[in-house]
Amino acid sequence: MTLRFSLAALLCAAFACAQENKPVEKLAPYYPTPETVVERMLKLGGLKPGEKMFDLGSGDGRIVIMAADKFKADATGVEFDADLYKESTARIRALGLEKRARIIHGDIAKQDFSQAALLTVYLLPSSNDKIRPMLEKQLKKGTRVVAHDFLFQGWTPVKEEHVEDDGEGRSHTLYLYIR
Ligand SMILES: C[S@@+](CC[C@H](N)C(=O)[O-])C[C@H]1O[C@@H](n2cnc3c(N)ncnc32)[C@H](O)[C@@H]1O
Repeated sequence: MTLRFSLAALLCAAFACAQENKPVEKLAPYYPTPETVVERMLKLGGLKPGEKMFDLGSGDGRIVIMAADKFKADATGVEFDADLYKESTARIRALGLEKRARIIHGDIAKQDFSQAALLTVYLLPSSNDKIRPMLEKQLKKGTRVVAHDFLFQGWTPVKEEHVEDDGEGRSHTLYLYIR
């Protein structure tokens, strides 16, 4: 009995360890959201001062920085690329926003978003499919999710916005979900 229990505990520990050491899956290449669209995303998400927001794959930190600076939110980015992590953290420091903004150097798939009021997501359609079950488990009722260009299959947006021209001739679609 004890031996069987120990073996099970050992297998569980080995599985947990394997999960922990899984290599980071690149969920999208770096492709920044234009600043005008960043503001539209945060407005669409109804971001209020003091609210916790997360940008999933935060790139150069522009969404986190605008959320903290202009919207006075408590903003966190998650970015696995070391250079983008360093660049965005340095920008936050240079702007004196450390109390309201920070970047986690890590994998989106290993974070806890259960305290979020708002998530912003600009990944690929297949990546939205991959992270959706995790978000469905973690997000508290009422959490808003703003997705840029790629929707979440199986979720119904409560609002959709089209940006015809971002100033660089590109159009964008934004989807607001309320979980
Ligand atoms: C399309 S860019 C969006 C950047 C930023 N959110 C914006 O809208 O300007 C996607 C970002 O996700 C990051 N990324 C991709 N897979 C990731 C993962 N598994 N964990 C953390 N960051 C990831 C990329 O390095 C890239 O910076």
